[in-house]
Amino acid sequence: MISSILLTGLLAAASTASASTIPTKRSTGVIQCPIILNGLVATTKTPTDFDSYATSPFNPDYIRGSEAFSTTLKFPNVTNSRFDNATYKAVEVTIDDASIFQEQNGFRRAGLQIQGDTNTDGPGTTGVRTLHWSVKQDAERALNLTHEYLNVWHETSDYSANQFNFEAGTIIGTSGSDKNNFKILNRQNTLVWSTTIDASAWQNFAVTLDFDKNTLQVYYSTRDEPLAAVTTALANDNSGDGQYQIGILKKPTGTSDVVNSGYQETGIDEGQIYGGLFLEDSASGCISL
Ligand SMILES: *[C@@H]1O[C@H](CO)[C@@H](O)[C@H](O)[C@H]1NC(C)=O
Ligand SMILES: *[C@@H]1O[C@H](CO)[C@@H](O)[C@H](O)[C@H]1NC(C)=O
Ligand SMILES: *[C@@H]1O[C@H](CO)[C@@H](O)[C@H](O)[C@H]1NC(C)=O
Repeated sequence: MISSILLTGLLAAASTASASTIPTKRSTGVIQCPIILNGLVATTKTPTDFDSYATSPFNPDYIRGSEAFSTTLKFPNVTNSRFDNATYKAVEVTIDDASIFQEQNGFRRAGLQIQGDTNTDGPGTTGVRTLHWSVKQDAERALNLTHEYLNVWHETSDYSANQFNFEAGTIIGTSGSDKNNFKILNRQNTLVWSTTIDASAWQNFAVTLDFDKNTLQVYYSTRDEPLAAVTTALANDNSGDGQYQIGILKKPTGTSDVVNSGYQETGIDEGQIYGGLFLEDSASGCISL
């Protein structure tokens, strides 16, 4: 009894001591399952590494406008997200007035596509896969939640639908959705789960897509807490192949043709900080929490 009280006291003292000396790069999540697509960003990466296939974890040419990723990606000095250990760091996707992808003049858009994620018959759309991402807000580059944002989604290979969407802001054409929430929508654009956007803490998400059973399941935590399921495995049409999209797609206001027209203000300087980007093999129920 005495020894257990002593031990408790010692542990309390130890955790108090470490609390004052916690390094900024702290995170305790451990990836448990085979990584299928690896978007973890090594601490050694420099901005120009993101302009070349040889050195970027992402496609250096998509999704972006004329500006190279070396000029638009930022590497903020923030605590690591849950699955970024000491060898990895956060990456911030930013948009400005020139963030126009191809001829999509209605959008302001930049995003990360993990190398190896092919549009058809790729490793990301077979078996059971879990996409992990963590997000953090940059007070200097806040999103304007009057607009609708797609931040993470999986788009079919013919670009006609998204198997799921992770969104922020005001969803066009709907009422009652809170613009201050992150929202996960299924293929039918039905809201399946939402949570308040945290102005300062990391928020960790995972979506498991079962391509055999056609289901979708959402996991969530904040800070360095373990993920927990926040939905059951919900029926969802996961057919159509395609690719994972991670970044910012800001829709315009005041138009029914969001791709090509509508209103975007000038002087945009917005960002979304990402960490812990990877797709794992969730066969046999494996999932990193
Ligand atoms: C960091 O995570 C990666 C991916 O899970 C792993 O391969 C590596 O061993 C980890 N490094 C440390 C120092 O834990
Ligand atoms: C990063 O942030 C930490 C803690 O806020 C600070 O001590 C450190 O000096 C910062 N590093 C840089 C390069 O700004
Ligand atoms: C947010 O977007 C709306 C619609 O484009 C615009 O009218 C408003 O000025 C923007 N607000 C800020 C703070 O940028």
